[in-house]
Amino acid sequence: MPTVDHTPARLVVLVSGSGTNLQALLDACEDPAFGAKVVAVGADRFDVEGLARAERAGIPTFVKQLSQHDSRDAWDLALRRAVAGFEPDLVVLAGFMKLVSADFLEAFEHRVVNTHPALSPSFPGVRGPADALEYGVKVTGCTLFVVDAGVDTGQIIAQSVVEVLDDDTVESLHERIKVAERAMLVDAVGRMCREGWSVEGRRVRIG
Ligand code: GAR
Repeated sequence: MPTVDHTPARLVVLVSGSGTNLQALLDACEDPAFGAKVVAVGADRFDVEGLARAERAGIPTFVKQLSQHDSRDAWDLALRRAVAGFEPDLVVLAGFMKLVSADFLEAFEHRVVNTHPALSPSFPGVRGPADALEYGVKVTGCTLFVVDAGVDTGQIIAQSVVEVLDDDTVESLHERIKVAERAMLVDAVGRMCREGWSVEGRRVRIG
């Protein structure tokens, strides 16, 4: 079972885009009672707002771009080494739009978590809000899960429900989901870091 070896717990956050989930964690970590600190932010691309947010907060950053490596395995190894160098208790994929390998997951077993803008197991993949809207569901939401080898299939840590409104667009729905997602992420990550967590079969227990 994963253990939290540091106080405050050490978070490495991986981003690919705007980084509003990262920002929510950075803001929460300003309170010592939160029990965690972001020790590094990594990205798979340059010039994203997520990296700029980290730099403004004075947090070390690194970029591992797939196209700068000979193979996907080489990229994954470079990413794994960069993350491991920061000795994370928890690796948070916060809008990180790449799949990591089985070796990566083994290196940080049950310590890699991801957010998904839908209520798993519905609507996996990169079109969560669009697929929910197209399907016509009346509620959707967001899911925090322990990453496994599948796409958005890992054990569920937390979920939050968001109503779908008649006049929603993909953008308006996703923005409302992201508000719920940030609150869910901060709440669950804080509790995991303060209380620890365990994974048994499909079930995750915090504390
Ligand atoms: C979030 O809604 C996150 O769930 C989603 O990207 C957004 C990132 O927002 N991630 C995925 O869809 C991963 N499959 P942010 O960059 O503002 O935190």
